[in-house]
Amino acid sequence: MSDRSRNLSYWIASGPTTSFPQLAGEVDVDVAIIGGGMVGITAARLLKDAGLTVAVIEARKVGQEVTGKSTAKVTSQHNLVYDKLSKTFGDEGARTYAEANEAAIRLMADFASRYGIDCDFEPKPAYTYARSGEHVEAIEREVEVARGLGLPASFTREPGLPFPVAGAIRFDNQAQFHPCKYLAGLAASIPGDGCHVFEQSRAIDWAPTRVVTSGGTVNARRVIMATHLPLGQVGLFYAENYPHMHPVIAARVDPARAPDGMYISVETPRHSVRTHRAGTGDMYLIVTGPSFKHGHVDEERQGFAEIERFAAEHFGAQAPDYRWTNEDYAPMDGAPFIGWSSSFGEGYLVATGFNAWGITNGTVAGVILAALAAGRDHEWASLFDATRVKPIAGAKEFTTHNLEVAKELVGGYVAAKPHSYEELAPGEAAVLKVDGENVAAFRDEQGQLHAVSAVCTHMGCIVGWNENDRTWDCPCHGSRYEVTGEVIHGPTYKPLEKKAIG
Ligand SMILES: Cc1cc2nc3c(=O)[nH]c(=O)nc-3n(C[C@H](O)[C@H](O)[C@H](O)COP(=O)(O)OP(=O)(O)OC[C@H]3O[C@@H](n4cnc5c(N)ncnc54)[C@H](O)[C@@H]3O)c2cc1C
Ligand code: FES
Repeated sequence: MSDRSRNLSYWIASGPTTSFPQLAGEVDVDVAIIGGGMVGITAARLLKDAGLTVAVIEARKVGQEVTGKSTAKVTSQHNLVYDKLSKTFGDEGARTYAEANEAAIRLMADFASRYGIDCDFEPKPAYTYARSGEHVEAIEREVEVARGLGLPASFTREPGLPFPVAGAIRFDNQAQFHPCKYLAGLAASIPGDGCHVFEQSRAIDWAPTRVVTSGGTVNARRVIMATHLPLGQVGLFYAENYPHMHPVIAARVDPARAPDGMYISVETPRHSVRTHRAGTGDMYLIVTGPSFKHGHVDEERQGFAEIERFAAEHFGAQAPDYRWTNEDYAPMDGAPFIGWSSSFGEGYLVATGFNAWGITNGTVAGVILAALAAGRDHEWASLFDATRVKPIAGAKEFTTHNLEVAKELVGGYVAAKPHSYEELAPGEAAVLKVDGENVAAFRDEQGQLHAVSAVCTHMGCIVGWNENDRTWDCPCHGSRYEVTGEVIHGPTYKPLEKKAIG
């Protein structure tokens, strides 16, 4: 394994290589879908099943952005969510969320079997656990609410973890899978009969009936924006979701010490744990941990140190073979935004705010968006209505985040040292002041300097360094860039401006 592949997600490093063509020229379809992740590929498959023609327009490679960097649990158990949902959206709303996410598990299993996708889809129980007694009441309450909604929930004090647990919720009939194998397999079933998947084709302009890349144009009756967060200013969703970034590791463990289920803690620092048996026979423990602020290296280092310590102390895990980071968006009221981007006219079909549960919720989004794009309504659509405004539930977090955004717009997070290109050692990066401008500079191991503007092309915040992934990440709304300035993740779609050196 090369040093760089250690910084890749395990799923991307061990998954198949897809090779769909780039968009070239004009293509006419019923529905254009920007983004080939969980949402986009699911919607494309369902639209094709409904007899419509689709074109998926993927900026990079299918399944290799947020979906391919997740922990890939397939579950309707999303920590302590049902009690909160029933308070915010009523019992009917919480029931819809439960039914939709349970249906998503079944749909994914059905797709894997129907299209012969070997994606390591394995049934597993899911647990949300508390180590301290103070959370047991909340756990018991969540079990009661979940059971009332028809979910396969029970209370246990023995979830199979190697440390004492005060109480846990167990959900049966859940699953885990390999997200890159799944999406590559599902995407392979789409081309033909007027349907297309395009890769290395970034949308740089769009309208409700058209998507433009540097190589061509897709004309369509509807456009689905399945880009994790809608691009640019569409729907202003960047103001209704806030981004959170997490460290993730895959570390080998002795199979005898591997836990049998999928786990997430109630307490902070939050730990999410699952296992995966690799093709080599090695047993991996996949662990994610506390969120950190985009571009804040100290917090990132602490996060990795914390989960590596946890994995070694409790499971005897070796030093990780893979370490990567991944982000998602917390919606202001606890439910994702799925549907039309605007209540005035139809606009775009969008899905965002999965709060790190977008494998099943992304499948739910695919189902709803495919129905709406086909001109039908869907029974789950009103809960997730993307135009709803419910500012109360997460108001405090939003005020705090928006104040922080204002600070990042002014100055960003600047490391104490170095101060100039010359002071940058190989492998080092910093935001520097050069001729009065903020420049994001990185010197690679070969000594080559990469310098780009540090001003995010979305709305002008100052990007910060992601030491593990070697990317420039924006703390305001989660855009991410390569050291060369190329876009990895939106809401931006424009690269950072390259700076001349010397
Ligand atoms: C640490 C972590 C762990 C997680 N673990 C789980 C889990 O165990 N279970 C679970 O349910 N959820 C999990 N999630 C959440 C889940 O991974 C995501 O919510 C989900 O994968 C999002 O899918 P998506 O299709 O919206 O986004 P993506 O997979 O990011 O797909 C969007 C696609 O759009 C493309 N794109 C962007 N801009 C453009 C453009 N301009 N032109 C063309 N294409 C573009 C991107 O390249 C990308 O491929 C986790 C999240 C995190 C952060
Ligand atoms: S992502 Fe919005 S300013 Fe950077």
